Amino acid sequence: MKIKLTGSNGYIGQLISSELVKKGHTVSGINRDLLYSSSANLQEEIRNTDVVINLAGAPILQRWTKKNKEIIYNSRVKTTHNLVKAISELPEIERPKKVVSASAIGIYKSGHSHTEESKNFDDGFVGEVVKDWEHELTALPKNVQTVVFRLGIVFGKEAKTIQNMLLPFKLGLGGKIGSGEQTFPFIHEQDVVNAFIWATETLETSETFNLTAPETISNKEFTHSFARELNRPAFFTVPAFALKLVFGKAASLLTQSPEVSSDKLQKAGFHFEYPTIKATLQDIIVKS
Ligand SMILES: NC(=O)c1ccc[n+]([C@@H]2O[C@H](COP(=O)([O-])OP(=O)(O)OC[C@H]3O[C@@H](n4cnc5c(N)ncnc54)[C@H](OP(=O)(O)O)[C@@H]3O)[C@@H](O)[C@H]2O)c1
Repeated sequence: MKIKLTGSNGYIGQLISSELVKKGHTVSGINRDLLYSSSANLQEEIRNTDVVINLAGAPILQRWTKKNKEIIYNSRVKTTHNLVKAISELPEIERPKKVVSASAIGIYKSGHSHTEESKNFDDGFVGEVVKDWEHELTALPKNVQTVVFRLGIVFGKEAKTIQNMLLPFKLGLGGKIGSGEQTFPFIHEQDVVNAFIWATETLETSETFNLTAPETISNKEFTHSFARELNRPAFFTVPAFALKLVFGKAASLLTQSPEVSSDKLQKAGFHFEYPTIKATLQDIIVKS
């Protein structure tokens, strides 16, 4: 198949691209500038593409100044709006048949449990971004299959989260965040890649799926598992107020989380290679 990706140079984009290439597909990235350019330019770029994978999005864990909020919002909502417009304006015969898009579990209200049916959405900045991001996709023509993955925190050797945590934890300075009671909806990068490939190659219906490992753990449990795999203690607590000093309101991304079920994805036939935190960390830490 001919496949184009937005956000192709990012962490997940590179992983998915190289797997698709290995599987014999013709893969290329959509230049970021084109996502903000005229519909005609974007149409040229995606004309006769079979599948578009939509991953563009500026990092969300940064201080939410007015300017950064605009970048975070536009890099998801405006780019997706422009992409959908370009697809819709192409003659039907030249349109991509499928769009597989990233979304995030940040759409859900923290401190509650959610399946994909939940409408109990976060009413803060992240909720607004993710709701609008997904809403843009609803304007795609009905015969363009649309698959949305609401991702949890992605773990892998190259994941920024893991890289940032390795040193303090190796030094025995790791610790839970805030109370540590908040859930920690994680997913191994290989399962993210496998899910996007499965949606691209196999799935035939339009769906929204939560993409988190089946095991539910708390931040405290994650901290203990991570320290155990590294054979280090983890006595410390990273206080919420310290994170607020660094990240301002964005600290809520680290101190609060929704609980999310991925049952729907499993029932649809997807198999997780790394369903538990133990399997996930054993793979990542051995590789690091
Ligand atoms: N990693 C996670 O834990 C996680 C969790 C939940 C959701 N997600 C979502 O999954 C998607 C991919 O995540 P990732 O970890 O691969 O992120 P990443 O490494 O930060 O890459 C995101 C890509 O988005 C593009 N981008 C950055 N700033 C942009 C801007 N201002 N305008 C347009 N595009 C911009 C860039 O692609 P180009 O350089 O190719 O243009 C960048 O490589 C993101 O939308 C993210 O919100 C990720």
